[in-house]
Amino acid sequence: MKHLLSIEELTVKQIGEILALAKKLKAARGKASHPKPLKDQTWALIFAKYSTRTRVSFEVGIRELGGRAMFLSNNDIQLGRGEPIVDTARVLGRMIHGCVIRTYQQKDVLDFAAAAGIPTINALTDEEHPCQILADILTIEEKLGPIWKKTVCFIGDGACNVPASWIFAAGKLGFDLRIAAPRKYQPAADLVKRAGGRILVTEDRAKASNGADVIYSDTWISMGKEEEEAQRLAELDGYQINDRLLAHAKPKALVMHCLPAYRGKEITDDVFERHAQTIFDQAENRLHVQKAIMALLAKSWRR
Ligand code: CP
Ligand code: NVA
Repeated sequence: MKHLLSIEELTVKQIGEILALAKKLKAARGKASHPKPLKDQTWALIFAKYSTRTRVSFEVGIRELGGRAMFLSNNDIQLGRGEPIVDTARVLGRMIHGCVIRTYQQKDVLDFAAAAGIPTINALTDEEHPCQILADILTIEEKLGPIWKKTVCFIGDGACNVPASWIFAAGKLGFDLRIAAPRKYQPAADLVKRAGGRILVTEDRAKASNGADVIYSDTWISMGKEEEEAQRLAELDGYQINDRLLAHAKPKALVMHCLPAYRGKEITDDVFERHAQTIFDQAENRLHVQKAIMALLAKSWRR
């Protein structure tokens, strides 16, 4: 594994390796035996969008693996004034050991990885959020056992990055994925087809959540869509995680949210607070999974 750019390009074996190492690193956290595969390395974080969890978990993770993290907001570097991403990549590739990128276009992350020649991680684009979904799978398996026997129901904006990564994960790992969204917010049919797997896309919330093991949501207004806020709130109204929806799921279904959450919109305050343990376990698992990804990339990468 040279980079972590998309769930689509991972093999089932690589997903298994990431999750297994994440469990080990989680157990070893704070112990003297904790490995330091990034010793003497500097990794950069280039972020063109807001972030709490991703930024903090990568910065802390790099440090815990023995490396040094350098946070570069898009506006701090010449990239923000129009320097091409490939030139940025060719400079950084000669100086640092790995790069974590959060931006708009998936193509920018792919171009950076190709031009920099150092391990590159997609920390969210408009198209995918692979680190999030790997952490979510770890969380589900910790609580419910192997995911391939389970049914995950995503409700809300089914056309954004988080459900897209869920779609590729379902295609790889063979669990049932159901996406409940108004027609306009459903994932592109060719993406679902490309992923393969057992995926149902529907407007019918009851059908999607019926007997589900996991009910999952994300904000209705992804970063970059702020101008559409009023329209999205109106069009996605009803595609909310609330007690009416949960009545269709298994009685002990997990409620998950990638965060940040907007109570009263995609999830009610009451349901969020009742399931806060799971939701914040999910957030913590970002740290363990991303440490595993970086450790594996550093191992397979020889300068
Ligand atoms: N879930 C997630 O990626 O959170 P941040 O936007 O805070 O990084
Ligand atoms: N779909 C959301 C995810 C935030 C972690 C966004 O892109 O803003």
